Amino acid sequence: MNDIEKKTAIYGTAHEFLVMRNLYNSAVKQLTLKCEILNNEFNVLYARNPIHHIESRVKSPESLATKLMKKNLPLTIESAMENVNDIAGVRVVCHYIDDVYSVAEMLERQADLEIVKRQDYIKTPNYNGYRSLHLDIRTPVYLSDRTEFVIAEVQIRTIAMDFWASLEHDIRYKADKSALPEGINEEMHECADKIAEIDRQMQDMYKRIKASEKKAEEERKAQELKWEKLK
Ligand code: GTP
Ligand code: MG
Repeated sequence: MNDIEKKTAIYGTAHEFLVMRNLYNSAVKQLTLKCEILNNEFNVLYARNPIHHIESRVKSPESLATKLMKKNLPLTIESAMENVNDIAGVRVVCHYIDDVYSVAEMLERQADLEIVKRQDYIKTPNYNGYRSLHLDIRTPVYLSDRTEFVIAEVQIRTIAMDFWASLEHDIRYKADKSALPEGINEEMHECADKIAEIDRQMQDMYKRIKASEKKAEEERKAQELKWEKLK
């Protein structure tokens, strides 16, 4: 089988392929909606949004086939569903580092979701400084006559982490890997660390501003109470 034949084998029969794609599309929609609901509730309760934006995609058959070939796995729909956790991918981009963990905790608490893998690249960045929290989530998809369970990869990160990851991805994919100048990975890591420092500083400023607003509000209320008593 040549590469093109191998890659088209993943389609299986057209019908099976459509059934699978619909399943993963539904999982993406469901997880996206869950995140939107949490974001909206946060807005009602605390007058702010932890989530800046959400991106999602279902892996293309070409890149699914490439991944299976790389792992030496059969190019079938069954094998893909069993072995590839990121056919459905949702990326949740948050404002601050604390928001990343809040969103993760809120998802972890949902009774119909099961976290099958948790990779915290914020606590332990990878070799080039990549940061994000990855949750592989097993989610039910309620169909007309049955419930199917599929695994989706949810990447939760801050705007700053997303900024680095997008540019790093762009640079890496455009670059001729065999001619990568020496020290690029180290420099990439340095940039990631600087960005992480700014992320922490922005969060710290945000917390200080919130704390001072809270203090001012408490003082105003205490003053009001004092006037009440004097009346
Ligand atoms: P697979 O998910 O099977 O590939 O293996 P894994 O679970 O060990 O991978 P992981 O979930 O850690 O990372 C997969 C995804 O994270 C990639 O498809 C990217 O979206 C993202 N990612 C991981 N490392 C990097 C990186 O160094 N740079 C960028 N830009 N993205 C990365
Ligand atoms: Mg993964």
